[in-house]
Amino acid sequence: PAPLRVALLGCGVVGTEVARGILENPIDLAARVGAPVELAGIAVRSLDAERDPAVPRDLLTTDATALVDGADVVVEVMGGIEPARTLIARALAGGAAVVTANKALLAERGPELFEAADAAGVDLLYEAAVAGAIPIVRPIRESLAGDHVRRILGIVNGTTNYVLDRMATEGLELDQAVKEAQALGYAEADPTADVDGFDAAAKAAILASLAFHTRVALKDVAREGIRGVSAADVAWASRTGHVIKLLAVAEVIGPVDDGEISVRVHPALVPADHPLAAVRGAFNAVFVEADGAGPLMFYGQGAGGRPTASAVLGDVVSVARRRLTGGKGLRESKDQAFPVLPPEAAVTRF
Ligand code: HSE
Repeated sequence: PAPLRVALLGCGVVGTEVARGILENPIDLAARVGAPVELAGIAVRSLDAERDPAVPRDLLTTDATALVDGADVVVEVMGGIEPARTLIARALAGGAAVVTANKALLAERGPELFEAADAAGVDLLYEAAVAGAIPIVRPIRESLAGDHVRRILGIVNGTTNYVLDRMATEGLELDQAVKEAQALGYAEADPTADVDGFDAAAKAAILASLAFHTRVALKDVAREGIRGVSAADVAWASRTGHVIKLLAVAEVIGPVDDGEISVRVHPALVPADHPLAAVRGAFNAVFVEADGAGPLMFYGQGAGGRPTASAVLGDVVSVARRRLTGGKGLRESKDQAFPVLPPEAAVTRF
């Protein structure tokens, strides 16, 4: 089959790792997809910025529109509303599949983009937009589509979880811990998006829309961030057997098929023996309560370049496979051959 041309929009912490994943090919993407995967170009704001050596200069362009027009799959990891919205709309209208990690855009303008994708008959996937590496979008959209989700409790912002953790373990003040999170590549370009709960609120809107099969926008989400949390609050919580976490909560109040929903983000006192209390550092976790399935917990790295790129690349493989099969059936690759050890030969260590 013809190579699949991927246009990458954005080359920050996540974009760099997506480029590395395609160019250095530590995973044989062609084997996973069933066709060669080619990085056609990387749209950036400035050609002169200092970049990781994994990013070849000759792939960089400031003409994102031309790049989008020549692509089969557009990967948007630039963030922000514009020009991301215009470029994604153009890609969809032109018949390209789109993979995005842009939670703010989906929470604010998602409905029109999903309509455009439907109208064009192409995929718009966004596993990386919520909780980084954690597969949570697909499980809620697909695996739980035959169930009633009653409540979601999520730690969906790595920066604030890292900050609260450092305040609890090292007694740091908020500003100091935020600086660390920035240096580690977890924080948004403007960390107020993390600290004041906007990032978590966007993710809460996306999760609630999926879980309750409805439209929840950013403006529907009640929001309080962690700016008012002091080191003394964190220490007091600990003395009373709690951990302070910034939670994204989405729940049905009343009958599960005929009630009202509440979607909110706020600091919460989580009992120290709840599974969410054990989520440390920049890790995220999403605790889902569904009628049939009961409680489920999804846990993993919620921020950072490689974890988020893992989710992006998974979506690229998904849309590429569906393009090749014309949407008929799921393709599984069996491209690796491993000898199997005798049962007694391996030991499980922790
Ligand atoms: N700034 C975000 C976080 C990145 O800290 O979780 C992932 O969306």
